Amino acid sequence: GTLSACGGDGASADDGTITMGFAQVGAESGWRTANSASIQDSAEEAGIDLKFTDAQQKQENQIKAIRSYIQQDVDVISFSPVVETGWDAVLQEAKRAGIPVILTDRAVDTEDESLYVSFLGSDFVAEGEKAGQWLVDNAGDMDVDGDGDINVVELQGTTGAAPAIDRKEGFESVIESDPTISIGASQTGDFTRDGGKQVMEAFLQSEDGIDVVYAHNDDMGLGAIEAIEAAGLVPGEDIKIITIDAVKDGMTALADGKINYIVECNPLLGPQLMDLAQKVIDGEEVPRRVVTEETTFTQEQAAEALPTREY
Ligand code: AHR
Repeated sequence: GTLSACGGDGASADDGTITMGFAQVGAESGWRTANSASIQDSAEEAGIDLKFTDAQQKQENQIKAIRSYIQQDVDVISFSPVVETGWDAVLQEAKRAGIPVILTDRAVDTEDESLYVSFLGSDFVAEGEKAGQWLVDNAGDMDVDGDGDINVVELQGTTGAAPAIDRKEGFESVIESDPTISIGASQTGDFTRDGGKQVMEAFLQSEDGIDVVYAHNDDMGLGAIEAIEAAGLVPGEDIKIITIDAVKDGMTALADGKINYIVECNPLLGPQLMDLAQKVIDGEEVPRRVVTEETTFTQEQAAEALPTREY
């Protein structure tokens, strides 16, 4: 707990139990569901009293949740910022209240590094690079309509979100090396299945000769599959599909040949987060940045991994 005006140790109570306030992005994707479960399960296991809110993908809701955690004087606040910018004011409030903040999954864009103690999550630029590298390495098979050019359509994540910005940047930086590859259209599907489906339906109308879909997450790729099938085309063959996450539904579609390649993004951040929280509260040094370990999957590798996949 932290010192407070009313002299108590706030939410940490008398028994030394740690209280964590966690402001989650929402429940937009299979990844997010697995991430929330991981956080809830590991809090329970660690004996941490977790206050958990779902912001329904709205920054204002996350800010409200964080303010209420400050008011309740929790011991530690953690959140996954829906977008990168606009956090300084509320993080200053947490700092003034003496409550440490741990970022998970997504980063904030701030000049003031003192506003959070640690950031645990993936390297989203590297994920985009891996997706782009696979496309470059397999360019020979990607010109599906045989016109000499590889026309990619991109389904972006939530506008302004770190994974949307970084996965675009990483992908673009790698495909630049191959002049036959270009992004013909790019739009946000908000990391949801429905968003991916709707944007893909529009692309199928507006774009000639789509060879490849690059979706910033599995769910949007799965939505795109529905749109492609509804248009009488075969996903994975008539249009190649690359996604990021590697959740069960994505891996199943990959093993079934409907997706061609998935870059993994690991949602199981709970155990590491609880560990970091405990250390911060015990006054131990923690690293500023903890990067999640991740791999990639081809169709064959997905078929192999599926039976033991946890999420
Ligand atoms: O921030 C991680 C991203 O958010 C995941 O890739 C996506 O599925 C989720 O909605």
